[in-house]
Amino acid sequence: MQERVRVLLSEEEVDRRIREIGEQISRDYAGRSIHLVCVLKGGSFFMCELAKRISVPVSLDFMSVSSYGSDTKSSGVVKIVKDLDESLQGRDVLVVEDIVDSGRTLSYLLEMLQERKPASLRLCTLLDKPDRRVIDVKVDYTGFQIPDEFVVGYGLDYDQMYRNLPYIGVVEK
Ligand code: IMP
Ligand code: MG
Repeated sequence: MQERVRVLLSEEEVDRRIREIGEQISRDYAGRSIHLVCVLKGGSFFMCELAKRISVPVSLDFMSVSSYGSDTKSSGVVKIVKDLDESLQGRDVLVVEDIVDSGRTLSYLLEMLQERKPASLRLCTLLDKPDRRVIDVKVDYTGFQIPDEFVVGYGLDYDQMYRNLPYIGVVEK
């Protein structure tokens, strides 16, 4: 099947917004350091760009959870595929995600990370689809709110493809 990708958010728009969020985070965490927790694989592109725009000291860790198969609808099943390497105890933790959709993944994840006794725990997502929310999740930093469309690029995939697009697009078949 032939697929086309329509640009929803251009590379320039995304880059500019990440710069703004980075500045906002740097102000909010002034005098502290941030432990960024990246949710693989989708959050990785955003996390790298964001980390470069944060001016307070930053450390990084990665984890991988699965809630999606190759389908475009959430299964509601969340499983830890790869856990963090380091302890979160006493640290100012900022979780970096690609997108909050139903909220199932993040709600589960944040609850689990909270049990590890961080000094603080916040969530930063590049994209938010508020219309799709099933479980309420408090998002502290949002790049863009987008309509209910399946998007790819900047880390987001469709069947593991398109993650490398430098913009956010909608797959059209
Ligand atoms: P949630 O648990 O429904 O909030 O889904 C979270 C995960 O689903 C995200 O971290 C993505 O990996 C995936 N996801 C949700 N919407 C999209 C989309 O539009 N494009 C690609 N992946 C998506
Ligand atoms: Mg994700």
